[in-house]
This record gives sequence, C-alpha cells and structure tokens, in this order.
Amino acid sequence: MHIGVLGGTGPAGQGFALRLASVGFTVTVGSRSQERATEICTKLCDQWSGRDLKILPGDNAAAADAELVVVATPWDAAAPTVSAVADRLGGKVVLSMANALVRVGHEFVPLIPPRGSVAAWVQAAVPKAMVAAAMHHVPARELAELDHQLLGDVLVCSDHPAATDAVSELIAALPRLRPLDAGMLSSASAIEALTPVLLQINSRYKTRAGIQLTNIDLG
Ligand SMILES: NC(=O)c1ccc[n+]([C@@H]2O[C@H](COP(=O)([O-])OP(=O)(O)OC[C@H]3O[C@@H](n4cnc5c(N)ncnc54)[C@H](OP(=O)(O)O)[C@@H]3O)[C@@H](O)[C@H]2O)c1
Repeated sequence: MHIGVLGGTGPAGQGFALRLASVGFTVTVGSRSQERATEICTKLCDQWSGRDLKILPGDNAAAADAELVVVATPWDAAAPTVSAVADRLGGKVVLSMANALVRVGHEFVPLIPPRGSVAAWVQAAVPKAMVAAAMHHVPARELAELDHQLLGDVLVCSDHPAATDAVSELIAALPRLRPLDAGMLSSASAIEALTPVLLQINSRYKTRAGIQLTNIDLG
C-alpha cells in the first residue's frame, strides 16, 4: 500500500514514514515545499542506507494522492492542510495523529479545537473522506529509531468502521504495536487530551512513556 504523509517533514511525520517504510510500505513524505521533502527523504535514506526503504518526496498534494493519507502537521494546521487537498481525499482513509496542546511554563496543557478534537475538525473539513484518529501517544523519537523495538497500545477511533480497520491493519504491521478500537470519533477528544498528561509524566520521570492497557485479550 502507498501511504502519504501531509506535513511529513516534522519529527512525527518523518518517524512514522520511516517505520511504515521499514515494514514494506511505500511512503510519500509531503510538505509545503518539495525541496524540504527532498532534503528530508535524502537524509532518511542515507541514515538507513542498509535498508530498502521506499520513501519518496513530494508536496502535500502528491502525498494526498496516496491510497491512505496521514495528517502530521501541528494541530491548528491540520484542517486547513486537508482542506487544501480535499479534492484528492474523497473516499480515502485519512489518519489524524495531531494533538492540540500548549506548553505553559513547565506544564503541558490540552487545548480544545473547533468541534472538540483535531480529528473531528479534520473530518468536518473533508466530509467525503473517512477520518480515523490514531498514533497520538507514540513518541516521534521512538518511531525514528528503527533499531529500537516499539511497544504499546494504539487507540484508534473513527465514525467509519472501514477507516478503523484500515488504520488498525497499518498499525498492526508495526511489530509489537497493538491497535485497539476505541470507538467513534467522539473518543478523539479524550485520546488527544491524554497526550499532554503523558508528556507531563515523561518530564517528571525523565522517560518516554507509552500506553498499554490491561485485561484485553485479543485471542
Ligand atoms: N512529536 C511527537 O512525538 C508526536 C507523536 C505523536 C503525534 N504527534 C503529533 O503529530 C503532529 C506533528 O508533530 P511534529 O512534532 O512533527 O510537528 P512539527 O514539526 O511542528 O510540524 C510538522 C510539519 O508540519 C508542517 N507545518 C508546520 N506548520 C504548518 C502550517 N501552518 N501549515 C501547514 N503545514 C505546516 C511542516 O512541514 P513543511 O514546512 O515541510 O510543510 C512541519 O515540518 C503534531 O500535531 C503532534 O501533536 C507528535
């Protein structure tokens, strides 16, 4: 499958693109600037030259032409960014991984975006797409270290069962990440708002905590 990442030049988009490419997906790293995307793709391919990574540079429109599209921009840019390529997203699964938060002194504080979550705002901006929210709590730095084993649960929510399934399949392709169906897109508010709590914990305990839920047996 071909995945496109809007805003794929930041730490989160790069890390996710790298991980997806490491398990065989073809990934287009999208950007507002083709040059910046090319620079990032060259850096990633040089850094991991021993691996056969299919990571291609593009602008955000090229990334939106992929079969499944990830939104990895800052939260306030997510809906405007998908809006700009809305004509390419109809009928597609769009994965929103953005968290609305702000740092106030030493504290991380959740913000409430229009429609209650970034993912719901993105869905409203591209009503013909099927938006799923996921990947909010997996640290970019862990994604980017391909020699580091990921571990944890990834909460996935959407109003479209097909989007939950497609995104869950994508996540399940990454060894030791377990996708969990967290219900409809209204769950995105709580899922996104958990991120500043994790960042707070990371800061207190000087770690990169992820989440792992107990007593869920998927057989
Ligand atoms: N960092 C993490 O550990 C992590 C983990 C999970 C989820 N997330 C979420 O993933 C998202 C991206 O995180 P990040 O740290 O990678 O963010 P970032 O570096 O601030 O931004 C990512 C990319 O978005 C593009 N961008 C920036 N401002 C924009 C604007 N106004 N309009 C359109 N595009 C813009 C830029 O790409 P171009 O300049 O190339 O267009 C930038 O490289 C955030 O919402 C974050 O909450 C982060």
